[in-house]
Amino acid sequence: VEAAMAAERGLSMATCTAPVNIAVIKYWGKRDTDLILPINSSLSVTLHQDQLKTTTTVAASRDFTEDRLWLNGKEVDVGQPRVQACLREVRRLARKRRGGGEDTATLSLSYKIHIASENNFPTAAGLASSAAGYACLVSALARLYGLEEELSEVARRGSGSACRSMFGGFVQWQRGERPDGTDSLALQVAPETHWPELRVLVLVVSGEKKPVGSTMGMQSSVETSPLLKHRAEVVVPERLAQMMRHIRERDFEGFGQLAMRDSNQFHATCLDTFPPIFYLTDLSRHIIALAHRYNAHHGRTKVAYTFDAGPNAVIFTLDEAVAEFVEVVRRSFPPATNGDQFVRGLPVGSAALSQELVAAVITEPVPGAVQYILHTKPGPGPQLVDDPSQHLLGADGLP
Ligand code: DP6
Repeated sequence: VEAAMAAERGLSMATCTAPVNIAVIKYWGKRDTDLILPINSSLSVTLHQDQLKTTTTVAASRDFTEDRLWLNGKEVDVGQPRVQACLREVRRLARKRRGGGEDTATLSLSYKIHIASENNFPTAAGLASSAAGYACLVSALARLYGLEEELSEVARRGSGSACRSMFGGFVQWQRGERPDGTDSLALQVAPETHWPELRVLVLVVSGEKKPVGSTMGMQSSVETSPLLKHRAEVVVPERLAQMMRHIRERDFEGFGQLAMRDSNQFHATCLDTFPPIFYLTDLSRHIIALAHRYNAHHGRTKVAYTFDAGPNAVIFTLDEAVAEFVEVVRRSFPPATNGDQFVRGLPVGSAALSQELVAAVITEPVPGAVQYILHTKPGPGPQLVDDPSQHLLGADGLP
C-alpha cells in the first residue's frame, strides 16, 4: 500500500548492500586518473557483509528539487566529482537501454535523486572503505533505473577498488588495454563458497589517521617510484597468474606467502616514492614479525598478513588456526579494558597456548595497541534489500 502511494506521488526507491574487499595482489597506481584506469591488474577477497557492509537507499521523485546525499545520517556535498561520475554513467546506460524514447512506465531520468548511505561498522575504525560505498551506490542506482548489466566499470569511476566489491568471493580487476576503459573491469575468479575454511581477522588498531589518502599517494608513487613501474610491468603479471592458481587449488601456503609478499612490495613502493609515504607503523611491523614467528614455530604458513593504506592489519588464515592465533594476539596486545568485546564478528573458540609456543612467539606485550579483532570470512557481492522497512529514506524522501 505504501509503495503504491509512493508511486502515485512519483517516488521510486531502491536499497542495496555491498561488501568491503581486501586485495591480495594490490592496486597502486593509475594510468588515467580521470577514468580511474590502473597500471596493473589486482585481485581481492570480498569480505562477508554480516560483519562489514554499506547500505544505500536511492530515491527519485519529480518533487525533488535537487540531488542530495547523506552519509551516516549527515548531509554531504553531492557534487563530488566521483559521485557525479557514477550518477552520470548509470543514467547514460539507462538512457541507452531505453533507446532514447522515454517510456512512461519507467522512471524518468530527469528526476532529481536523494541518496542515503551508512556503514554497519564505525567509520572511526579506519575500515571505511570507499569501495563498499561506491559499489553500493552503483548497485542501488542500477536497481532504481532497472539496469541489469554488469556495472563494475561504473563502480570503478567512484573508486578503483570499488569495482572489485561488485562481486563476491575472489575477484580480479583486469587492468584492460583500451584508453576508454571499457575493458578495465572486475571478474569473479571463484565464488565465496569455493574455499569454505578461509577466514579473515581484521586487527583494528587504536587511533591514528592515515597520513596520505590512496588517491594522492598512488599518484605520487606513479610519478616518482621506479620500483612501482617494475612492479606493474614485471612482478604483478607473474603474481596474478600464481595467485589465481593458489586460489583455484585452495593452497593456503602459496596464497598466504604471496599475499604477504605483495603487501610488503606495495609498502616498499611507498618507501620508494619520493618524498616517501609511510603507511606501516611500528605496530604493523610488530604484527608482521609476530606472524612470521608464529608461522616459523609451526613450520608452515598458518597466518598471512596484508596492509592497505592505513594502519589496520588484515590476517588471512584457516578456521582451524583462528582460536589459537586470536589467543596469540590477545597475549601480545592485552586489551586495555576488561577484554569485553575484544573479539567481534564470527564466534571464536578458546585455545590454550603451549609453553613452547609462548616462548617462541610472544615477546614483550604491548597493552591496548590492538583495539579489537573482527573475525569474518569471504562473502557474497552486493545484495538487493527487498524489505521496504529497511530503506534509509522515508516516504517523504528524507532520512
Ligand atoms: C592500497 O581504490 O582507494 O587499498 O582508485 O583513488 O579511489 P582510488 O583508490 P583506492 O585504492 C586502494 C588501494 C589499496 C590497494 C587495493 O585495494 O588494491
